[in-house]
Amino acid sequence: FHVDLDPKETDRGAYPYYMLKEIDEQPAVLHRIQKAYLENTDKPAISTELLTAMKHADRLYIVGAGTSYHAGLVGKQLFEKLTQIPTEVVVASEFAYADPMLSQRPFFIFLTQSGETADSRQVLVRVNNEWHAPSLTITNVENSTLYREATYQLLLNAGPEIAVASTKAYTAQIAVEAVVAKALGEVKEIEFAQKFDVRRELSLAANGIQSIVDEKDKLKKIAHQDLAKTRNAFYIGRGVDYFVALEAALKLKEISYIQAEGFASGELKHGTIALIEDHTPVIALITQAKTAGHTRSNIQEVKSRGAQVLTIVSEALAKKEDRIVIPTISELLMPLMSVVPAQLLAYYASLERGYDVDQPRNLAKSVTVE
Ligand code: G6P
Repeated sequence: FHVDLDPKETDRGAYPYYMLKEIDEQPAVLHRIQKAYLENTDKPAISTELLTAMKHADRLYIVGAGTSYHAGLVGKQLFEKLTQIPTEVVVASEFAYADPMLSQRPFFIFLTQSGETADSRQVLVRVNNEWHAPSLTITNVENSTLYREATYQLLLNAGPEIAVASTKAYTAQIAVEAVVAKALGEVKEIEFAQKFDVRRELSLAANGIQSIVDEKDKLKKIAHQDLAKTRNAFYIGRGVDYFVALEAALKLKEISYIQAEGFASGELKHGTIALIEDHTPVIALITQAKTAGHTRSNIQEVKSRGAQVLTIVSEALAKKEDRIVIPTISELLMPLMSVVPAQLLAYYASLERGYDVDQPRNLAKSVTVE
């Protein structure tokens, strides 16, 4: 089979790298998802069959690898909050050969940009042949292997993603998870879902991302000052901020080769803090009111050991010392925006260090071996 690509979408245009183009496209991608899933109210874009199958489940299992796994972690909160169905997120390569104690009526959600990741496919093979459970693949590529082999399928509508480091597919995955969780929560008559205005939140997120990418020069400067010469760096956060920290660190290591790790802020003192030296960059994400104060205390702990701290904070929780302040939307969807400064920091750090941003060493866009 072949995929028809709109030449405009695969053209780098005036951009030096696809990654920057794809970061900039994120507001448009969110609008496209709104259009595909939320605009045509006479014909629900998410089928009744799919929602009925999901409603019947006593547990959702989200399966992914790399960045898609990280989008799944954010999805867990969305599904649990909006649908009240317990949700597990699993790393495909681990789950493929594990002996899981599955629930009575599991439903599997596969997140995969390419639809071809061998580790994820291996789990789907077990779902189909061994566990005989229903599944949904959320992918960017129509007719890809995981698209064809799942019971149900939804498209990300992110447009072709060419840079190896995934950016717009991650935000698209979170947005589509939110759309599905909202639809399922409504079917289940969950009050939180009924009140959750996903359409509005996605519009606000699109505007918010636009304001962040419009100020990318500021992030370029920070990357130059704080990251370009460092050997290592840490992202920290709690709850969904922690999940974004994992993705943010992955972006940085993938393309700048800086050893970067994402940590749960509260875990720092249980070991990692030993690594903090004078000027070690620590980037803290603060977008969740409940845990903001705790993360601020953790910042003090690393600061007093010499760390060079940078904060990415939602406006609602910002203080005057915060360096990157982003607009506030529903806390559940803050990852759509908080990841964007991290994508840009990784991009500029890689550029400063003189690497090929789109084609990092040792990595492939689509990994079709286990
Ligand atoms: C590769 C890519 C990653 C990606 C992962 C999962 O390792 O380099 O960027 O997150 O595969 O890919 P998928 O297509 O399944 O989302």
